[in-house]
Amino acid sequence: MSIGFQGKVVVITGAGGALGKAYAQDFAARGAQVVANDLGGVAAGGGASTGPADATVAAIRAAGGTAVANYDSVTDGEKIIQCALDHFGRVDIVVNNAGILRDLSFHKMTPQDFEDLYQVHLLGTFKLCHAAWPHLREQGFGRIVNTSSAAGIYGNFGQANYSSMKLGIHGLTLTLATEGRAKNVLANTIAPAAMSRLTLTVMTAEQLRAMRAELVSPLVLKLCDPASRETGGLFEVGGGWIGKLRWERSAGHHFSPNAPLTPEQIAEQWEAITRFDDGATHPTSMAEAFGPYDKVMKGEIR
Ligand SMILES: NC(=O)c1ccc[n+]([C@@H]2O[C@H](COP(=O)([O-])OP(=O)(O)OC[C@H]3O[C@@H](n4cnc5c(N)ncnc54)[C@H](O)[C@@H]3O)[C@@H](O)[C@H]2O)c1
Repeated sequence: MSIGFQGKVVVITGAGGALGKAYAQDFAARGAQVVANDLGGVAAGGGASTGPADATVAAIRAAGGTAVANYDSVTDGEKIIQCALDHFGRVDIVVNNAGILRDLSFHKMTPQDFEDLYQVHLLGTFKLCHAAWPHLREQGFGRIVNTSSAAGIYGNFGQANYSSMKLGIHGLTLTLATEGRAKNVLANTIAPAAMSRLTLTVMTAEQLRAMRAELVSPLVLKLCDPASRETGGLFEVGGGWIGKLRWERSAGHHFSPNAPLTPEQIAEQWEAITRFDDGATHPTSMAEAFGPYDKVMKGEIR
């Protein structure tokens, strides 16, 4: 079944960059009206230019699509959503994609390096979602795609600031998925891998050629499909490969809640606590996660 976005308004942050431009062009090609936001700063943050957003809008219009440029910082997310309302009268889809990198090993990282990444990634994502949220809820339709990173999921040398924000973004997305589900407001997270100025330093020229942004974009569109039911998902995507992640929890071990518990007792059961090959589960909600505590509170564990 073909996926179309006729009548839908999509806001894409960082739409002048490699991934954001691909998203903006692909949404527009399938009928969406696009707000192409980009501050146009440098990769480490700072600076501003209208060029990147304008170039994306020009490419969309040249192909017969509809788009408007916006140059606000995502830290002023409410202005970007207001731009969608002013130009197109509504907002349906938000793709939080803007990002900067400031790689430094932790002992060299200053509080400002952490704060600046917080502002663009986590606070920026919050601001856009928060400003769009009442509109999405009220109209009973919304799609949000937020951008994480393998660095957030797994940790990465020199990226303490970046990885903190990137996994924080998934935490935000999980709660938005929980709160939005009943109103058909679906939220998912992607961790992309693609050639861009952010990856120039960490990939070889050959690797970069294989990792086209155009191979990430179709997943973003799929997650925003008006017919989609997928929400709260975390997907890794790049180079034409797509996979989904989930939490896995060991079966664990119950000690008596009615007796003293010592570190030595825990050491004795360490293998049972940490092994995944016997009775591991994949909780997807707080209710599921609370299963072991429920047993204790119901007096089933003595
Ligand atoms: N390329 C990858 O392999 C990769 C891997 C993991 C995560 N990501 C994430 O994907 C997203 C897109 O990255 P990209 O690789 O296309 O990089 P990019 O640098 O080409 O694009 C990012 C864009 O965001 C814009 N931007 C930065 N700060 C902004 C702000 N405050 N307000 C508005 N716009 C702002 C920049 O001007 C830039 O055009 C980022 O969130 C990045 O962290 C990318």
